[in-house]
Parts: sequence; C-alpha cells; structure tokens
Amino acid sequence: MSLSTAAEGHARHTLEPFRTRRTFAIISHPDAGKTTLTERLLSAAGAIQQAGAVRGKSGARSTRSDWMEMEQQRGISISSSVMTFEFDGLTMNLLDTPGHSDFSEDTYRTLTAVDAAIMVIDAAKGIESQTLKLFEVCRLRDIPIITFINKVDREGLAPLDLIDEIQGKLALDLTPVLWPVGQGVDFRGYIDLLEKRVVTPQGKTLAEFEALEDLLEVESLVDDPVFLTALETLEMARAMLPEFDLTTFHEGHMSPVLFGSALKGIGVAELLRTLGDWGPEPRPQPALPSPISPDEKKVSGFVFKVQANMDANHRDRIAFVRLCSGTFTRGMRLKNVRSGKDMAVANPMFFFGNNRELAEEAVAGDIVGIPNHGTLSVGDTLTEGATYNVTGIPNFAPEIIRRVRLTDAMKTKQMSKALSDLAEEGVTQVFRRMVGADWIVGVVGQLQLEVLASRVAKEYGVPITFEPMGYEVARWVECDDPDELKRFITAQKMNMAEDRNNAPVFLAQNAWWADRAKQDWPKIDFLTTKERH
Ligand code: G4P
Repeated sequence: MSLSTAAEGHARHTLEPFRTRRTFAIISHPDAGKTTLTERLLSAAGAIQQAGAVRGKSGARSTRSDWMEMEQQRGISISSSVMTFEFDGLTMNLLDTPGHSDFSEDTYRTLTAVDAAIMVIDAAKGIESQTLKLFEVCRLRDIPIITFINKVDREGLAPLDLIDEIQGKLALDLTPVLWPVGQGVDFRGYIDLLEKRVVTPQGKTLAEFEALEDLLEVESLVDDPVFLTALETLEMARAMLPEFDLTTFHEGHMSPVLFGSALKGIGVAELLRTLGDWGPEPRPQPALPSPISPDEKKVSGFVFKVQANMDANHRDRIAFVRLCSGTFTRGMRLKNVRSGKDMAVANPMFFFGNNRELAEEAVAGDIVGIPNHGTLSVGDTLTEGATYNVTGIPNFAPEIIRRVRLTDAMKTKQMSKALSDLAEEGVTQVFRRMVGADWIVGVVGQLQLEVLASRVAKEYGVPITFEPMGYEVARWVECDDPDELKRFITAQKMNMAEDRNNAPVFLAQNAWWADRAKQDWPKIDFLTTKERH
C-alpha cells in the first residue's frame, strides 16, 4: 500500500464530505514532544507559517492551544482545544488533550470524541506512565493508534528493544513504516518502507528499492556500518512483526510505527500521510437505542467538553460538540435529547486554538463550538429530532474529596452558582451531604482542585478553600431492589451524599471501609464510573 499521491488527494473531492475527515488526538507522557509535534504537523500541513506559534513554554511566544493564565504560568496545557487544518484534500481535526501528569476527566472525554490517536514515545524512555494510562483509555474504545517514536536525533534505546517493550507493555502488534538509520550523533536518516526509499535527515533520497535486499547493492550505503546495522535490525523486525493490515489497525489491534524527530521535522510529513491514507473515517458512535452511523442523513452530535470564559473579552461558555452524522448548517434547530428542548444554533464556531470563525457547515467528525448560557452539559446529545442518547461518557469516582470553605459568608449564592456551573462543565463534581448543608467537591487529580479554586475566584469573585473531611473513596450506589437501596441509604445516612443529578453516592473513609460495605451489602452495586446524563 503506498502513500497518497496528488491524484489521490484530488480524488478525495469526489467523496462524501464526512469521509474526508480525520479526527484525532495526540497521546503522550509530558516532555515526549507532543507540543513540538503538534506545531510540526501544523506547519507540514501549511496551517501555520512559522513553526513555533503553538509553543508557550518559554513564555516568549504566544500560545494557541493553551489559553488559561494558569497554563501559561505552569507551562502545561490544562484544557483541551481543537485545531482544524486542511491536508491533501482532507480536513484534519486535532483535539488537544491536556498533557499534565494528573489524569483528568477532561482528557478521557476528549478521547471519546476522536477516531484515531497518535502515540508519541520518547526514544530514550520508552513507555511511560501517562502514555500507558492514555493508551488504556484508547483501548476501551479500540481507537486505532499510530506510534511515533520521537527524538531519534538523540541517543536512545535500540529500535528493536523499543518495539519489544511497546508490544509487551501494551499487548499491541506493531508494524514498521519508517525505520531509523542510526541514532544520536550517528543518525543518518531513515528507511521509508512505504515510499521504498532511503532518506537523509534533510529529506534527500539516497536510494530507492523494490525489496530491502536491493539496498545491499548500493555501495555508498553498505560501506557504512551504521546503515548495515539498521538494515539488519529492520530485517529482524520484519521477520518478527506482522505485515500491515488495515482492518486490524482500524480495530485498534495493530499500530504502524514511525521513528522520527519532531524537533527536526523528520518523519512528520510521513506521519501526516499515514494518518490521511490509513487513518479511519468517522466511526459509528456508540449510542442508545443503537449506534449512530456517520452516513445517517439527519444531524446528531454530542457535547464532550464545556469551557467557560475561554476568552476574557467574550465572557462566554462554549460547548464543544462532536458531530456524529448528517450535515449541520448554521442556524439549524437542534434538540437537546436530555432536556427535550430545541435550540437554534445561530453562532456555531470552528477553532484554531483560541482563534475562532463562524461555522457555516460541518459534517460527522467535525467539532463545532456552540456558545450557550448553561443549556448544554457534557454528555448531552443533540439531534434533528431523533431520540439518540450517546453513551460512554462517564464521570469518574473522585479520588480526592474535600469540603468547600467559603471565606466570605455573604457569597453563598455566588459560590453555589460557581460550583454548579463548573460541575456542569466537568471541571469538578459537586455533591451535597444528605445530612447537613456541606458543599463537597470531588476530583480525580489534585490539579483539578487548584484549577477550581482559581476559576471560582477569578470568574465569580468568590474566594474558596478546601478542607479534608475524612473520606477517601466515593462510590455511586445502585440496586435492582429499591427497598434494599433505601435500607442502605438509611443505615449509612451520615456517609451519604447526592450528586448533581440527585444520584446517591456513598462516601467511605478509605478502601477498607468501602470493601467492608460491599461485603455487608452484597445486593448493592458500588460503581466507580457513572454515565453522565
Ligand atoms: P510535551 O509537549 O510532550 O511536553 O513536549 P515538548 O514538545 O514540549 O518537548 C519536550 C522537550 O523535548 C523540549 O525541550 C523539546 O524541544 C524536546 N524535543 C521534542 N522533540 C524532540 C526531538 O525530536 N528531538 C530532540 N532532541 N528534542 C526534542 P525542552 O528543552 O524541554 O524545551 P524548550 O526549552 O526547547 O522549549
């Protein structure tokens, strides 16, 4: 299978529009090179004139994908945004996943809105903890993954060892696409198995081949021990690894691997073409009563993220909607299946980082931003009338539970509004004790608490602090027998709370107490995730 030619790019104009969408995210451990790769992808696609516009770490350059002050201070990306760019007759929608080390619910939900992921691995470090977590989230939905092993211009682990480690830790079949010739100071370029050529770091073709053995005839190459070693290890990799198979890739069980360098722009164009040519079109969206097929004529989509006050000049609240089917046009009326209410979508937006433009038309795979005043929440399904409910967008049982302390008692009302708004956005979860009037927040990572306090203070003018309340575990409780559930709630009244949908939540001091309750109440289900509704 060869990569696309100009003719193929041209032929894409005859496809139904949604078939030209590639909606993807980049997953990686912090420092593996996600930011650098993002800017290189955009510049390779011609989307930005000067690579560097995306970065914000050094502070000097302005950020595009990171917009919150806190992110800029810390040099991390907390909220996800969308970057849309054209490439070779395709529309690429890159969803930025937060890159900090705390696992956040936002990251998970962003991955519910993509059809493919690029996994960036640092060649010197192999699989790291955050990569593993994000990979597991992708695996839940069998998202196809392209592996980019970054920083081959530096000393790193041997390619075969890296392949071994990834296959072993992720239980994923790999198949090479770009193979490095040397690493670090010995880096000579790469063997491109799709275009069947040997390329220098500057992009010059050194040799072409039909079969790898042909390269043994090329004197200038075989005289170089670095090249011979690369050829040898590649032959071994090919003997050990399966041939590329599109279906297995699309099912999420096989990953094409490219060795490259984001910093030097090596392998980036090939990565883009691999995604363009092999990456999946929009996939059917899991929903009830049945999955939504992207070629359905009527429009449907779901909210995977809500972001308030993205732009200080616009004090607004934007729901990011992933379209699942149909052709959406500006001004269309859509029904929010949860509330049953219709809304006219007058000002939908497309994004490029924090630049935005009006979206006149969008199809399955596209992400549109819909400004609203609290009518849209994460997990909501929007349709042209059908009663689909998109599934698989959960809340996670919080791992950090805190009582909210208000330092200015006059501001109770503003605080309750702030907490409800931010809970709707998915920044935090909010619970009310069944006994007493405490406001409780639950988060999955410590950083979420800091974001919450900073946003409540800045956007609502309410200073809050948090205090521990002796609980470490929260579980939603359900039971087929409503009387049994009632008995449980009565018996545990002091440890019970309700979430924002009034669903009962059991709070336990620690894992031991949670287990004990499970043993004592075998008919009750203790849930660590709950679908948003
Ligand atoms: P992240 O978003 O995944 O956290 O990673 P980021 O792109 O910020 O890259 C982390 C560091 O790795 C940066 O260096 C970056 O320049 C470097 N890097 C990225 N890709 C490559 C590559 O292909 N080769 C080499 N040699 N380095 C690479 P830094 O010194 O931490 O940041 P900066 O001071 O350059 O901004």
